[in-house]
Amino acid sequence: MNANQFIITPIVGIFSACLFAGCASSQHQLSPKHVQPSAIVKTNLLVIHADQGKNTISRNIYGQFSEHLGRCIYDGIWVGEDSSIPNTRGIRNDVVAALKKIEIPVIRWPGGCFADQYHWEDGVGPRDQRPKRINTSWGGVVEDNAFGTHEFLDFCDQIGAAPYISGNVGSGTIEELAEWIEYMTAATNSVISDLRRKNGRAEPWKIPFVGIGNESWGCGGEMTPEFYSDNFRRYNTFVKDYPGNKIYRVASGSDGDDTNWTEVLMKNVGPRMNGLSLHYYTLPSGNWSKKGSATEFGEADWFATLNHALRMEDLVTRHSAIMDRYDPQKKVGLIVDEWGAWYDVEPGTNPGFLYQQNTLRDALVAGVTLNIFNQHCDRVKMACIAQLANVLQSMILTDREKMTVTPSYWVFEMFVPHHDATLLPSELKSADYTFNSQKIPAVSASASRDKSGKIHVTFCNLNPNQSAEVAVDLQGAKSQKLSGQVLTAPEMNAHNTFDHPDAIKPVDFSAFKTTDAGFTVTLPSKSVVALEVE
Ligand code: AHR
Repeated sequence: MNANQFIITPIVGIFSACLFAGCASSQHQLSPKHVQPSAIVKTNLLVIHADQGKNTISRNIYGQFSEHLGRCIYDGIWVGEDSSIPNTRGIRNDVVAALKKIEIPVIRWPGGCFADQYHWEDGVGPRDQRPKRINTSWGGVVEDNAFGTHEFLDFCDQIGAAPYISGNVGSGTIEELAEWIEYMTAATNSVISDLRRKNGRAEPWKIPFVGIGNESWGCGGEMTPEFYSDNFRRYNTFVKDYPGNKIYRVASGSDGDDTNWTEVLMKNVGPRMNGLSLHYYTLPSGNWSKKGSATEFGEADWFATLNHALRMEDLVTRHSAIMDRYDPQKKVGLIVDEWGAWYDVEPGTNPGFLYQQNTLRDALVAGVTLNIFNQHCDRVKMACIAQLANVLQSMILTDREKMTVTPSYWVFEMFVPHHDATLLPSELKSADYTFNSQKIPAVSASASRDKSGKIHVTFCNLNPNQSAEVAVDLQGAKSQKLSGQVLTAPEMNAHNTFDHPDAIKPVDFSAFKTTDAGFTVTLPSKSVVALEVE
């Protein structure tokens, strides 16, 4: 065993050599399709402190982002009441049914960059009288405002998700944002809440989350952090908690590395905000003008993409460390309300629509990122993958009446048991996955205990060539019964199409064995595995 083979996350204590010996002698039954016995790396150890959990993994980490961008809203969600595509009040039934299965907790809307050009009054009242606008953020197409506040909140109701409204600070007024909140949440009669009643909604909605601007350093107004901090204070003052509705206020946060933005916001805004956002996208090349293809790639791009995805660990750690200095009690949440893989658009599609396919590689991006968020659930209180349908790393792809779910969707389904579960602290000692003399940890994992007492462990094996045997030392619990699911495929770029919507989906998994210390599991190459331990 070569000690240099390991990356330890975080610092590992003392490990039992017997554990490794036990692990090395275990026999596993794996589908021969996915595992060459000679290609099993047996040098991974996960210690789970099953008796030590104290932090809850907020289900809101499993949130989604839906923007008026390309075909996310129009076609992906909204087809209109007169459509031949089965719908309920204009919202696609097939999409609602699929999304209900992954128990989406929260959806952010209407943007993104679009949020800072959006005027909510355009999207209420009779649809045939709503004004047409140019979507100057995305493709210069006509926005007819058919999908507005009532339609979005109906969509949230239909799938059982909480709404996260992204307010316009870039081009909208304080009065406009204040009135939008009043329109949605005030029960008391007023000219604004009466307009809501006139438009068909008597009761106010509950709006638990409001973002005060989006990417205010960029498309949201190119502000400095100091100028934005002052604007947050002004806009936020007039975002009122009407009786029965308490708003969690999210400030526009940093673009990836910009820790100064976080520093200034924590200093100048502090506890006035409940959450501070962070945006980070994974590009295979790291180059915005030539990002890389979503489906046509080899191992170099596979490695580079996952290497970039793993940067989320460093970003969350660095931003959290700054927040800890101002807010040691961790009252302000880090809200990663845009994340995911961003590739070149599919050939032949509108470059302004950001439509991309979604492969097994995206499943791994989702898996490692969600494991990172779980591990940081003391600070990361909400996250929204970009985006829900037909844009970037989507859950759903549609083309008129056709629909398919993506490998990323299946990862969200496999991670459902972590929602609101207690994070179980763990230490992972992983072998390296080496490519062209660069190294990343091959294995990623997180563990939680749900309300019924069951333990759930999610793993990723990033290595596309070798299986990974993981010895799991389950401290403070017994593993008597295990069951699991695996998402993998023979090809790195396996994906679902409208003609083959089930080309990649999870299947039952049994490559595990209980041991005196806990259990061992053999993760197929390039896989996401979810285990339930009773
Ligand atoms: O998700 C696409 C865009 O990426 C969003 O509109 C913007 O906030 C970010 O730059």
